[in-house]
Amino acid sequence: MSRATLIDGKAFAAKIRQQVAAAVTQLQQQHQLQPGLAVVLVGADPASQIYVRNKAKQTLETGMHSIEHRLPADTSQTELLELIEQLNADSAIHGILVQLPVPRQIDADVVINAIDPNKDVDGFHIKNTGKLWSGIPGLIPCTPLGCMMMLRDTIPEGLVGKHAVVVGRSNIVGKPISALLLREHCTVSIAHSRTKDLPGLCREADILVAAVGRAEMIKGDWVRKGATVIDVGINRIDAGNGKTRLTGDVEFAAAVQHAAAITPVPGGVGPMTIACLLRNTITAACLQTGYANPME
Ligand code: GUN
Repeated sequence: MSRATLIDGKAFAAKIRQQVAAAVTQLQQQHQLQPGLAVVLVGADPASQIYVRNKAKQTLETGMHSIEHRLPADTSQTELLELIEQLNADSAIHGILVQLPVPRQIDADVVINAIDPNKDVDGFHIKNTGKLWSGIPGLIPCTPLGCMMMLRDTIPEGLVGKHAVVVGRSNIVGKPISALLLREHCTVSIAHSRTKDLPGLCREADILVAAVGRAEMIKGDWVRKGATVIDVGINRIDAGNGKTRLTGDVEFAAAVQHAAAITPVPGGVGPMTIACLLRNTITAACLQTGYANPME
């Protein structure tokens, strides 16, 4: 039986980081502009700490200005909003990201919507969400942006008319990627935990996007022969030998026998998220200054 092509997100992300670094050089040489990204972490969630560290490291590697704000877990919403105001007003900062989840005393929606929409490199602000669904240019959430780049690269005949099934309806991935697929003229089904006959719906997908956050929930035989599978899940599970391992939302070993192309976990979608965050910081810097975006 033929095995799917593995979509190499690690190599793809490295290419984007190179393009970002070239864009930073060009903006500096032509306009003396150094794009800057501020990342805010409230509390000490171990996974979030790793993400934030990687974001700051990769930002610096591209030549951008990077600042990190690590606030205690008991930070009040008012204190966080004061910091956001300060960053909104700081002309050296073009992108602001508040790592999610935030502690319970803080309303994530209030915080996200306090960020200047032109500095909202996560693309989560209600203005950017509205622009995305209305087809108006704006900042696009990083993980869906990365998934779309990989899909365009993997499906040379284009996405027009393909049936895309998105499993998961989160604001971070499921909903925005559905809007992006629709914009590319796919027929989009958004499935979730209450969808009837989920296996049957998945088997109709030319493009299957799994973003449910449940390890190997999408079984290999739910994947139609020749489909392209984008697995957004990153789940840590028991490997049975006293160790743990990372796995996606798709049962990879079986799905790889059915799909034409599939993203592995790790090394698929994951590395694209930070690369697209860096790309969005360039986009945001150009939006704020009015300079032409070297990446477009
Ligand atoms: N937590 C998990 N994914 C994300 C993301 O894309 N952005 C932010 N801000 N927090 C996250």
